[in-house]
Amino acid sequence: MVEDLRGRVAVITGASRGIGAAVAEALAQEGCHLVLAARSADRLEALAQRLGQEHGIRAVAVPTDMADEAQVRALIRRAAETFGTVDILVNNAGLGLFGAVHELHMADLRDVFEVNFFGPVAAMQEVVPLMQRQGRGSIVNIASIVGRFPQPLGGGYSATKYALIGISGAARAELKRDGIRVILVCPGLTDTEFARHSRVSVPGLEAREGEAQAPFPGVSPERVARRTVEAIRRGEREVYVTFFDRLVVWFAWLFPGIFEALLVVAAGYRRDRFRRRRGLHQTAARAALDGPLLAVALTGLAGWLGWRLFRRRVGSPIQRPR
Ligand SMILES: NC(=O)c1ccc[n+]([C@@H]2O[C@H](COP(=O)([O-])OP(=O)(O)OC[C@H]3O[C@@H](n4cnc5c(N)ncnc54)[C@H](OP(=O)(O)O)[C@@H]3O)[C@@H](O)[C@H]2O)c1
Repeated sequence: MVEDLRGRVAVITGASRGIGAAVAEALAQEGCHLVLAARSADRLEALAQRLGQEHGIRAVAVPTDMADEAQVRALIRRAAETFGTVDILVNNAGLGLFGAVHELHMADLRDVFEVNFFGPVAAMQEVVPLMQRQGRGSIVNIASIVGRFPQPLGGGYSATKYALIGISGAARAELKRDGIRVILVCPGLTDTEFARHSRVSVPGLEAREGEAQAPFPGVSPERVARRTVEAIRRGEREVYVTFFDRLVVWFAWLFPGIFEALLVVAAGYRRDRFRRRRGLHQTAARAALDGPLLAVALTGLAGWLGWRLFRRRVGSPIQRPR
């Protein structure tokens, strides 16, 4: 059943830019009232004002640091006080972490887990009783395709998304009978400031944080947002934004050995480039593509070899005119 979202109340974290801001816009177009959270108060305030005026909805900005559990819980309480309830929670705030596992600063890893995992969990804990009371609600957790396969030199970030995916699956089962849907959105490379704001945890290279953007354009944040809103309206379980993203995840799942061999190659290659190239983020973002691209190339090669083998054994199924 497709749900009409008009008049629903949505809390969106990480709404100051990128995917979160696009989701806010898309939900405003659906007629949702909004509670926008992030640390950049000015950006949030400006977005809330614009969306309120353009879409005739109520939108409030609540500056929140997702790494601070008390602030996260206060955000949901503030939303409930302002609007009476919360119908939709979009746990979107997040940041990347680049570096080899054995070199990661533990403090960086913990910080990123606070924002990408513990913050969303605290928000879920606070929002669920409200949703249970009204017998419905949607919790959207923005994960990543690298929460479905590991990313060399992005292992810390991958781990936060694996954790989020794991806990989301459990919560989905626990809350289904309460009418609460837990929806996972797993975007691939998306054209935002994500790389620029990611943490760099490579000894000696920390100062390069914020140097460069991803060199390849990803999909637009608006496309991720449209897919996210569609998933909320339809109550989907797990969403991939492009067929390519889904293909890579399938490949990693179906051929774990081959995929791992490709990751080994990618890890060495990325490590070199990490150290040699000037734009560290450029390297890391570019590298995020290498494994998946190789995987897809290999899928094509396997298909072609299979086809050749089939023709040799069975003959061509295509009848040629004699
Ligand atoms: N871009 C991609 O390629 C990609 C791919 C897959 C998944 N994702 C996921 O998509 C989500 C959004 O990323 P994006 O691409 O839109 O990145 P982005 O442009 O860097 O936006 C990140 C958002 O999170 C907020 N944020 C970061 N740290 C925060 C904190 N401590 N407290 C509160 N808010 C915080 C930022 O706001 P403030 O700085 O104002 O606090 C900003 O609004 C993330 O969870 C990311 O992991 C992104």
